[in-house]
Amino acid sequence: MSDSSVLRELRGDRADTPSVWFMRQAGRSLPEYRALREGTTMLDSCVRPEMAAEITVQPVRRHHVDAGIFFSDIVVPARQAGLGVEIKPGVGPVFDHPIRTEADVDALPPLGDDYEVALDPIREAVRLTVAELGTTPLIGFAGAPFTVASYMVEGGPSRDHLRTRALMRSQPEVWARLASWVAELSGRFLRAQVLAGASAVQLFDSWVGALSEDMYRSGVQSHSAAALARVADLPVPRIHFGVGAAHLLTPMLEAGATAMGVDHRLRLDQALDILPEGTPVQGNIDPAVLFTSEEARFAEARAVLEAGSRASGHVVNLGHGVAPDTDPQVLTDLVSFLHEQDAHQLGTRRA
Ligand code: CP3
Repeated sequence: MSDSSVLRELRGDRADTPSVWFMRQAGRSLPEYRALREGTTMLDSCVRPEMAAEITVQPVRRHHVDAGIFFSDIVVPARQAGLGVEIKPGVGPVFDHPIRTEADVDALPPLGDDYEVALDPIREAVRLTVAELGTTPLIGFAGAPFTVASYMVEGGPSRDHLRTRALMRSQPEVWARLASWVAELSGRFLRAQVLAGASAVQLFDSWVGALSEDMYRSGVQSHSAAALARVADLPVPRIHFGVGAAHLLTPMLEAGATAMGVDHRLRLDQALDILPEGTPVQGNIDPAVLFTSEEARFAEARAVLEAGSRASGHVVNLGHGVAPDTDPQVLTDLVSFLHEQDAHQLGTRRA
């Protein structure tokens, strides 16, 4: 398992053949997912271990990607801790009671032993998945404090995260208490997955690009660091990913990541110019190219490999998640194209 190409790249030990997995590889783009999920809500499916394991394995079986990403959601921990939250199809996570005042933060459930017990179905799902995946590694994940807390503060998805940013500025102590609660929530969710067998973790800070570097450093970085610290004693790579976060690559790495996910807005060679020498990277095929011609897709894949060729390690991924209406065959063909490429023929690695 530790010889798997994804884990090697994440450790900065390059493999001969490019390795790839896709954010949101499980889910609505797959007919077998839609069939299995029929009649079960998204969040219920996450706490049914056999179902979550089967959904995780589906894209590995179909596309031959080099890693599984655990099927769950960034709000599953909040639900297991007792908060009222659901995922509205086509919308995203929606909380019953938005958290906006000091009293709302006071009323958050304590994260005691009950929370540990509530993570049992997650541990069981991870164990079943790892057994099924064999030598293919499983990547565990959690939502970062800013992204999860922004759903809690806004009550649901938001375009500009205005309420969250206003709370950070007007009541920094209230924000800090909320963000540290989420850091513990997400950090313990990550730890549960690794102890049950996940081989790497990814912290998703999808909406962090809404913040300036100053606001990130003063209000967010220490909380993301606290989440990642919960797995820092375990021998697994820690990937940190944000959308529109080119200006935050360095502070996000400094939060305790060992590899950086890069979205499709920034070329990997430019990311490598920003990051300290030796930082492994992950990304960053534009998901929009999945809706163009095969010629365009393969050209983009080659360009991404080339741009990542001087990294100490590179795991190919999309710049953000697979869109639900993506043709799954396009993903399968992209994986086989990538697996046919010889890493030694690329850019600065050319012998
Ligand atoms: O394949 C995978 O990537 C594994 C599972 C996964 C899901 N959500 C499953 C899911 C992961 C890693 C996530 C993380 C997640 N959830 C993020 C961070 C990653 C990102 O895309 O930026 C965020 C922001 C969320 C919040 C969330 N959950 C959104 C925005 C949505 C989409 C709502 C919609 O219907 O468009 C969800 C729901 C969700 N999470 C689905 C899946 C497969 C769709 C549920 C369905 O089948 O109806």
